[in-house]
Parts: sequence; structure tokens; C-alpha cells
Amino acid sequence: MLTGGSVAALIPAAGMGVRLGRQTPKAFVELAGRTLLRRSVDAALASGVVDRLVVMVPPDLVDRTRTELPEAVVVAGGAERSDSVRAGLAAADTDLVLVHDAARALTPPRLFAAVVQALRDGAPAVVPGLPVADTLKRVGSDGDRVLGTVDRSELRAVQTPQGFTAPILRRAHERGGDATDDAGLVEALGVPVHVVPGDDEAFKITTPFDLRIARLLCREQD
Ligand code: C5P
Repeated sequence: MLTGGSVAALIPAAGMGVRLGRQTPKAFVELAGRTLLRRSVDAALASGVVDRLVVMVPPDLVDRTRTELPEAVVVAGGAERSDSVRAGLAAADTDLVLVHDAARALTPPRLFAAVVQALRDGAPAVVPGLPVADTLKRVGSDGDRVLGTVDRSELRAVQTPQGFTAPILRRAHERGGDATDDAGLVEALGVPVHVVPGDDEAFKITTPFDLRIARLLCREQD
């Protein structure tokens, strides 16, 4: 089944980014002159496949973000990432929804287009995934004893933007549950999730090391 319809990009940017060790919430940290949030918004718009932008930010940064990003609907995020996504969903009225971490600030626009294309080709849920390069071990609860080696050939490191038909993502968030991404909630509904090739540049900026890598990449690009 081919799916037409409008597309919203929901950009959760309400995290504090404790692991980055900055005073500023992570999405508001600057990377070569543009905040991570601004870069993510620019990438979503440059893809040409996004009709509406919804950005979820810490409550005290809503007014500032409305001024800085007049092209976006800005809402307050919540305590957990899933709370922020739910707040964004309430402000989206499109047929298709992308959820994209502001922290994946160097994601190429073509990845947004590839996810939307897979939705239009009929997939109800789509994630970008990359093969895992390292050997993976399962360890005991203390983390200091190997219990076994995991077969990495059937594993993927999953990124954003993740794409969904809007009714499915709404149903998944109404049901809730424990998941570290939106696709995890959709999987719990029994809905098939399609994988498209991810992109190294869509990595999530989490640690000071990630920010260093991102700065070096920007020096190459800008
Ligand atoms: O903390 P982590 O890097 O996993 O967060 C992924 C994305 O979700 C970030 O862009 C962050 O700003 C966002 N987030 C949010 N609301 C929260 C926690 C995280 O919008 N309560």
C-alpha cells in the first residue's frame, strides 16, 4: 500500500544532557556557530520532506526557542524523553510523523527523505539501523564477568529519524511501557518495524568526546 499525506518532524530537545557535563541543556550547546537544535531543524527542513516542525524543549526555554525558531511549533517537553514525544504528538496533526533527537545534530537530510520514502512505500514504522562494528559480550550484573558473546550479525544500532504513521505512534504512546526509543513502543503493539540503512553522521552527541568529533566534522563541512 502506498501512503501519501503530510509529514511532521517532532524534535525532542528537552533533555539536560548530564553526560555532556555542560551547564546548558544539550540541544542548546553550540557547534560551530549553531546550536544542536538549530542544526537538527535545518537538516529536517533541508530534506524537503517535512511539512511541519514541532520542537520540545525545557519549559524555561520555550519563549526563547519560539523567538529563535519561528518556523517551528514549540512546546514544553517532559521529565522523560517519551513524555517529551507525547507532548509533541499532541501538537502534530499530520498523517506521518518523524521523531528525531536534537542530539543527532549532523544527520544528513537524505536520511529523513529515506525514512519518509519507506513510509510512503507502505511500511507502518521505519528505523535507520547500522551494523555493529565491535564484538559484543553479555556480562553479569556487576559488569565485570563475561557470560557470553552475542551474535552481532543480527544486531543493528538504531538511530533517528524514526518514522511512523501517526495513528500507530499515538496508539504506542497511549499504551506506554518501557522502551528507549519510539520504535520499541511500536514493537510492543506487534506492528512490524522496517529498517533502512543508517548513516555514521547520524550519531548521537552524548559525551564530551562525541562533541569533539562533531566539532572536527563541522570544520570539514562548514
Ligand atoms: O538523553 P538522550 O541523549 O538519550 O536524549 C535523546 C534526545 O531526547 C535528546 O535530543 C534530548 O534533548 C531529548 N530528550 C527530551 N526530553 C527528555 C529527555 C531527553 O526531549 N526528558
